[in-house]
Formats: sequence, structure tokens, C-alpha cells
Amino acid sequence: MSDKTFYITTPIYYPSGKFHLGTAYTTVLADTIKRYKKFRGYDSRLLTGLDEHGQKIQEVAKKQGKTPQEYVDEMADYAKKIWATMEINYDDFIRTTESRHTKIVEEIFDRLMDQGDIYKGEYEGWYCTPCETFFTETQLVDGKCPDCGREVHKMKEEAYFFNMKKYTDRLIKFYEEHPHFIEPESRRNELFNNFIKPGLEDLCVTRTSFDWGVKVRKDPKHVVYVWLDALVNYITALGYLSNDDQLFKKYWPANLQLVGKDIIRFHGIYWPIFLMALDLPLPEKIYAHGFLMMKDGKMSKSKGNVVYPEMLLNRYGLDATRYFLLREFAFGQDAVFSPEGFVERFNFDLCNDLGNLLNRTIGMVNKYFSGIVPKYNGCKNEADKKLEEETLKYIKKYEEYMDSYHLNNALEEAWKAISITNKYIDETMPWVLAKEEKTEELSSVMYHLVENLRKAAIMIRPAMETTSNKILSQLGIENETLISYDSIYKYDLLQDDIKVIEKGEPLFVRLDADVETEYIRNEMKKTGV
Ligand code: MSP
Repeated sequence: MSDKTFYITTPIYYPSGKFHLGTAYTTVLADTIKRYKKFRGYDSRLLTGLDEHGQKIQEVAKKQGKTPQEYVDEMADYAKKIWATMEINYDDFIRTTESRHTKIVEEIFDRLMDQGDIYKGEYEGWYCTPCETFFTETQLVDGKCPDCGREVHKMKEEAYFFNMKKYTDRLIKFYEEHPHFIEPESRRNELFNNFIKPGLEDLCVTRTSFDWGVKVRKDPKHVVYVWLDALVNYITALGYLSNDDQLFKKYWPANLQLVGKDIIRFHGIYWPIFLMALDLPLPEKIYAHGFLMMKDGKMSKSKGNVVYPEMLLNRYGLDATRYFLLREFAFGQDAVFSPEGFVERFNFDLCNDLGNLLNRTIGMVNKYFSGIVPKYNGCKNEADKKLEEETLKYIKKYEEYMDSYHLNNALEEAWKAISITNKYIDETMPWVLAKEEKTEELSSVMYHLVENLRKAAIMIRPAMETTSNKILSQLGIENETLISYDSIYKYDLLQDDIKVIEKGEPLFVRLDADVETEYIRNEMKKTGV
């Protein structure tokens, strides 16, 4: 096992209902990055899980006539099933109701209290139940919750507070010394300039209005605020403060923590301060991605515009769904889902560009060389040389983008390489070379086509492993070294007799755009309430 480690986390999800496609994005993104890092030789670890405490969960369970524990147990089964269908390669699934977590939350709370960071006081403020967040008068927007726009109500209670003020200067210094701690930069600046620099309020870290949570050991009518409880999952899952903290020693601090833009405030302010208070190193990077939107705004059941991943998976397959998500989201920006957009990506990128390249290549290697891939004989003309140079340039860029987590740009580079390979067929016109019996040149073209498809299979592998495997198996490429990432820059590796399949199944079957957009639209309508 490599000594280079990579620890990546997703937020832990509220199991308050089914997961929609937007929620699935974080996890697909995290999974793809983890696979890429593993491919590059890192000992990578991915954590996901469920955030099972809080008033909202208690209420949902009650409505369904279940105890909160029964309810979250069912939801945990559901979550694990859906992640399995999406082939999410997580290494650990933490649930905040597990004793490995709750025991440590109790312990952490005690410590913070003992060292004077948490103190008892009284809270009066405006509370938003769905968001489980208190707001001050000035934070409200038109008297409503600034995050979700719903009604808030006034609440006063005895509560414990975390002394955020004490850590503000340290946090400012950390932000200044680590300009890339939060990405994208716009979010970092927003947090830094609008929230941190003006000064932080102490944070209310307990509740008494409900009891579905971790009880404060020394004062059990208080339950720990769901965000303090939830945030520490990233370290309790590694065994922090437990009898066995091997994983913690090995993997903490995390290299990358992924969150949606709505929860960057919790991760960019409270989380680093909790870590400072515990005297622990801060993660290397927290990255806030945008939201998956619909043409008419946010996804919501009342609008009847929710897309559930299952619908796309069942009809179009996993890889097309993963590809869509990864390709549509520009770094840190929102992405828009539309049935037309989905079908276009499927037909243009997957069927035309990638699928046809494979089909044409296999057809020609069979026709001209009885299925045996000719040996590498260097570049026989300008077109070969240009193809090699440009492809290597795209691969380099692909790698830079993957390393900086710009996955949509990375896939774009992979598709540029695919697209110039398609053009290369048109330019070199292998059918003319065959007719004119220019065997040397024809061999070179066939070799380059197979080789570029191998490179494409490697580039898309972290995002779409099944498709990558299909390409390689149709090309007859089985040798492990030819599937390793390190082999991607080499052009002369296909030495053994490689035999392509006689007739391969199409990777993706072209969709009828009218029928499928209608289908997706109807399925979305069914989600309305
Ligand atoms: N439980 C908290 C996280 C605690 S982490 C210590 C939570 N859960 S959530 O289920 O509401 O959201 C999970 C993730 O899904 C968040 O990163 C959130 O930003 C993301 N998304 C929710 N809706 C989304 C879209 N429409 N699009 C993209 N991501 C979305 O927050």
C-alpha cells in the first residue's frame, strides 16, 4: 500500500426524504475524485454517511408513526442501497446515531466545556425549524429565514454557547496564510469578508426544545446542536479519541472536504474553529460546489420538477448519469438539468463521439487487419505526429484539471482528445490508404486509433468505470500495465498481439430525442405533490 494518503469526505446527509439528483452529485463527485487518486497511487479513503439527529428527523419519524431510530435505520438501508446502485466506492459510512460517534461527541463536548470554550447562557433568537438554525433579527430576510425563506419563530431558552470570538483572530490568520483553504475563491472571499472579518458571534451549541440528539453528559436536558454533532463525524469515523485511533493518525487532516454551497458557512467557520479548539490540524481544502437547478429554479416537490437518480439510472444507465453530473457542473457553479440537455449529452458525447469512434475503429481493424492491431511503427506522416502531440497536450491538461478538482474541465479535455481522434479518421481516410495499398500508413492509423481509445478509456475510468472496461475489453486490451494510469503518456506500449472483438455491442444506443425528453418530463411530473 502506498504511503501517500488521501482522505476525502462528503457531507453526511439528512435522511429526511429520498435523495434527489442534486444530492447525489456531491457523492458522485467525491467518488470520482477518490477513484482518480487511487488510480494515481494514493492510499485513498472516502467517507460518507447520515446526519440522523435533530428536530426535523424527529418530526418526520412521528408523521410516519415510527420511532426516530426505526425511521433512520430504514433510511440508512435506503441510502446504502442507492449509493451501491451508483457504485459509490466509500470506505466508511458513518451514522451519527452510532455509539462510536455519540460517545465521542459527548467526550468532545465535555472537553470543550472543561477548557472554557463552551459556557452556559440564555438564548433568544429567531429559529428556523427546517434549517435547525437560530438567526438574529438582522439576519432575517423580510422577517423570514435567510437560507430557505420559510417562517421563523421566536425562541428563548437556557443554552450552552461556544466562544467563537476567542478564535476569530486565529481563523483570520489561517485564512490569510492559506488562501486556497476554501474554494472556489468567490465563496472564500464571501465568508472571509462578510462573516469572519466583521467578527463572529458566539454560537449556541445546545437545544432543549426536543430530545432526539446527543445528550450533554453533565446536563442531560440539553442535546448537542446538530451541527456540532454532525461536523465532528469526519474525525469520529476515523476513531478520534477512541481506543483505536490508527485511522485517525493515518488520514487526518483530510485532503478534501466536499460540501454544497448552502453549508459552506458551517464548514468554513465553525468546523475549523472546533478543530482549533481541539488542537487538531485543519483540512487541506474545503470545496463548495454549486446546486443542481431546474430551468424554473430550485428542485421542489411542489413544483413537480424533482429528478431522482433512480429514474435516470434505470432507463439510461449509471455511466450516462454520472457523466452528465460531472460534465454539467462547472467548478463551484450551479448546473441546470433539462431533459433536452441530458439527452443531448447522451447522444452527442457518448453515442456520437465516443461510441462511434470505438465502432469505427473496431470495424476497420477487423476489415483491414483481420482484427489484429498492427504493431507501432512510429509516425508515418504529419497527421500521426499531430495526433500524438495534441493528445498528449490534452492529457496533460486533463491531469492538471483532475488534480485541482475541476472535473468538468478534465472531461472536456478527454473529449477534445476523442474529438481530434475522430477528425484524424476523416483526415487520414484509411479506406483510401487501403485501396492504394499503403499498408505501412494504414497500420499506423489503426495503431493510433486503438491507442487513443486506450487513453480515452483511462481518462474516463474514474468517472465511468464500466464504460472504460467495455472499451478496453472490445479492444482486446487486458494487460494490467496497459490499464495503469502511468501508461497514459506512452505511445508504443501495445506490443503483444492484440485482437479486437469481431463485433462489439454499441457502448450507448442513440436516443430518440422527442420520446426521451417527453419520458423524463413525465417522470418529473409524477414527483409533484
Ligand atoms: N446534514 C447536512 C450536512 C452535514 S455535514 C457535517 C446537510 N444534509 S443535506 O442532506 O441537506 O445535504 C447534503 C448535501 O447535498 C449538501 O452538500 C447539500 O449542499 C447538497 N445538496 C442539496 N441539494 C442540492 C442540489 N440541488 N444540488 C447540489 N447539491 C445539493 O446539509
